[in-house]
Amino acid sequence: MKTWFITGASSGFGRSLALALLQEGEQVALTARDEDKVADLVDDFPLQARAWALDVTRPNSITRALAEARAHFGRLDVVVNNAGYGLLGALEECSDEQMVRNVETNFLGPLRVMRAALPGFRAQGGGHFINLGAAASVSNYAGFSVYGGAKAGMELASEAVAAEGAACGVKVTVVIPGPFRTEFISRSLDRGENPVPEYTATVGKFAGFLAKVDGRQPGDPAAAAKAIMAVAAAEKPPFRLVLGHYAYQKYRRHLDKVRAELEAWESVGLETDFPS
Ligand SMILES: NC(=O)c1ccc[n+]([C@@H]2O[C@H](COP(=O)([O-])OP(=O)(O)OC[C@H]3O[C@@H](n4cnc5c(N)ncnc54)[C@H](OP(=O)(O)O)[C@@H]3O)[C@@H](O)[C@H]2O)c1
Repeated sequence: MKTWFITGASSGFGRSLALALLQEGEQVALTARDEDKVADLVDDFPLQARAWALDVTRPNSITRALAEARAHFGRLDVVVNNAGYGLLGALEECSDEQMVRNVETNFLGPLRVMRAALPGFRAQGGGHFINLGAAASVSNYAGFSVYGGAKAGMELASEAVAAEGAACGVKVTVVIPGPFRTEFISRSLDRGENPVPEYTATVGKFAGFLAKVDGRQPGDPAAAAKAIMAVAAAEKPPFRLVLGHYAYQKYRRHLDKVRAELEAWESVGLETDFPS
């Protein structure tokens, strides 16, 4: 039996994962900005679940929840950085405040959680971070500069944390989902507050795609929960776990494009070293 710590357990991936874990007999520290949103899970699984208030933009709430959860359960084996939300808008449509809040939630938040959990992981000889990335950080869309950039930053920071912590038994996996049927589009998508009509053809087109796919996303969060549990049980978990056909196809196309570009410009790039 493992003990899990989940941010953003109130809905979507976080809630589906929490429920699947509790049904499998795992212990779960459920965290949410509003603890009441996970109270039903604590009521249904009183011996395995406990809730803490945690907002990833409030560092004190992170350290308090981690310390209290660790004291309550004795150890934390898997910490899931799930909390996040989108910001849809061309770069110049987004205010500074919107950019800062989004980057703070999607990039700094997971880093703060990992930094606060690492001493506990080291003391117990290891642990696993599972961080929710995004297909937007594989190759980005018009309208997701801030969100995709924050997720890409989180992914690369996670790669460094994996390298730094390997000797202490710390493992890191970044989960990269395509569109999944959660409240991400309907509720967790901020919109750039300074609209510029010239972006209708680009950002507007992407916004149209999101509106059309909402409620019909191919990805099933309950199935994602099973995949995440399989990764946590693996002896050698992957650094990236790509979820769903959409994200797999996107990733493969991206790799082909990157390889083709690398090779097309290789002769120019290789001319830049000092002669040996
Ligand atoms: N669904 C997709 O298609 C998709 C695709 C790629 C990546 N993702 C990522 O998956 C993760 C979960 O999103 P979801 O799809 O499950 O959407 P969701 O159902 O809207 O869930 C988002 C969760 O994040 C929480 N949250 C937002 N800001 C927070 C903060 N400052 N502190 C703590 N919690 C916060 C929300 O809590 P409240 O209830 O308090 O608002 C909610 O629990 C996000 O990181 C998202 O970027 C989703």
